[in-house]
Amino acid sequence: MKILMVCLGNICRSPLAEGILQNKANENQLDIMVDSAGTAAYHVGEPPDIRSQEVAQKHGVDISRQQARQFHVSDFDHFDRIYVMDLSNLKNVKDLARNQHDLDKVKLIRDATHPGKNLVVPDPYYGGRDGFDKVYMMLDECCDNILSELSHAID
Ligand code: 4NP
Repeated sequence: MKILMVCLGNICRSPLAEGILQNKANENQLDIMVDSAGTAAYHVGEPPDIRSQEVAQKHGVDISRQQARQFHVSDFDHFDRIYVMDLSNLKNVKDLARNQHDLDKVKLIRDATHPGKNLVVPDPYYGGRDGFDKVYMMLDECCDNILSELSHAID
């Protein structure tokens, strides 16, 4: 099973989502590969924002070796599910979908905890460190539910 996490810059939210879900999958010995990408190219090749690296480290998750990349239409072929952080990512990714099969792969990540409520993971880039703590906790809860869903899908 291959999962892609998507945000705008691929340096704050989606690297955390990637690290958190991959860590949980590894701990549970589930055959899940997680990657992440940004809809924009501003930060391609950069490591995650230091504030994301630090909040992850605090929870025992190492995201320091990730490198930002841009979402590409071929990601629809390589991934089984694509989780986006907010409504703008949702629109940008859906606009690149070629057919219904591509569209069916795209989900708002907070639907994992609040189905149908259209809740988003807010962009913490311009705020303080508490924003990164909040994003971490939100993504951790989402990834618990995603992992539980995926473990049933894999069985
Ligand atoms: P992300 O956060 O989408 O969670 O990685 C952002 C990172 C950079 C920018 C915006 C959001 N930026 O405008 O450079």
